[in-house]
Amino acid sequence: MSTTRPLSRHPVLVESGVSTRTRVAIVGGGIIGLASAWQLLRAGCAVTVLDPSVGGGATNAAAGMITPSSEATFGHEALLAASIASAARWPTFAEQLSADSGLPVELCREGTLFVAADHDDELVLARQARLLERHHRSVDRLPSRAARRLEPALSPRLAGSLLIEDESSVDPRQVAQALRVAITRLGGEFRRVHARPQLRAGRVIGAVPASEAACPDGGGPCHADVTVLAGGWATTDLATGLGLHVPIRPLKGQVLRLRPAAPDVLHRVVRASVHGRFVYLVPRSSGEVVVGATSEDVGPDASVTAGAVHDLLHDAIEIVPELSEAVLVESLSGLRPATPDNLPIVGAVGIDGLVVAAGHGRDGILLAPLTAEAVLAEVLGQPSPQHADHFAPQRFSRTEGP
Ligand code: GLY
Repeated sequence: MSTTRPLSRHPVLVESGVSTRTRVAIVGGGIIGLASAWQLLRAGCAVTVLDPSVGGGATNAAAGMITPSSEATFGHEALLAASIASAARWPTFAEQLSADSGLPVELCREGTLFVAADHDDELVLARQARLLERHHRSVDRLPSRAARRLEPALSPRLAGSLLIEDESSVDPRQVAQALRVAITRLGGEFRRVHARPQLRAGRVIGAVPASEAACPDGGGPCHADVTVLAGGWATTDLATGLGLHVPIRPLKGQVLRLRPAAPDVLHRVVRASVHGRFVYLVPRSSGEVVVGATSEDVGPDASVTAGAVHDLLHDAIEIVPELSEAVLVESLSGLRPATPDNLPIVGAVGIDGLVVAAGHGRDGILLAPLTAEAVLAEVLGQPSPQHADHFAPQRFSRTEGP
């Protein structure tokens, strides 16, 4: 990043005494771009989202876990604080989104059961419980019998479990569809193009189709006062084209969707340590169960592999044996946008008219409400919401040598 200068205020442009709405172009229509677009529209901005596949990519593959505690790890306290802050916003976010779109946005608020397959896995649970207790997070150690009263489909052979009550989940496909409708209802526009930011005289003035071939809608440039780069892991290339260093890499996650023979097999998120390997099971209101996920640092490769499908099914069935009778509805992989410190990169990056909002790794759905608020604050020239200051892009600024 060349400088650390924040954006000037952009809420309303006043020309010859006539107020005009701030125009915002958002490059990228995943959960982060869509949530930001929706919040900007609610605040009165004019918004265009540019993406050939709105709601696709990592958002389409995501399990939708709002689970700051059960996925917390030692040494990532800033991420935990931001995750807690964003999770607390999810109930209002879901309610307002449902009102604006007229569509259901279901937040399953039954908490998470974190279970251990064997006695070594129990040590993983004990470590998680210590981490959460240190941060005063709610966590209850349950004997396996008590866990099976909550989730009768769990294997009787589990070694132990934790109940983490203040966690939830959403269906990211349902959320993306509601965002799409809410954005359209509020007057936002979509353009189905691969776009890149357009730089003129040291300022980003909007976005243009990346090439003629990338422009099936035949449209030209999208002029904007502020352009938000929310292209997931592809943001790095978009930023590099402007001479900026925004380090985001693809982190592959393979997931499965199962349709169990009986409905309501599970009622809450189940996360498990299975002989040293993690798996999670996320029930949908449709009755399907999402099983995830691998974490593979293999570059931009979105293939689904036999080994990953095998391991996910093996671990899921070990925890919930009746899933062996389920129909395998879908196997897919998403490329999470990962950063070197596991925190997203959100904010101004030293070029007027440009904001970055990307790099959310495993936490895009969880962190969407806080991120959208941070993007809105940046565009309005207001202070960043608490805990979103950890997302400042300047932490990756490259210092020039003497
Ligand atoms: N948040 C879960 C995952 O990325 O796999």
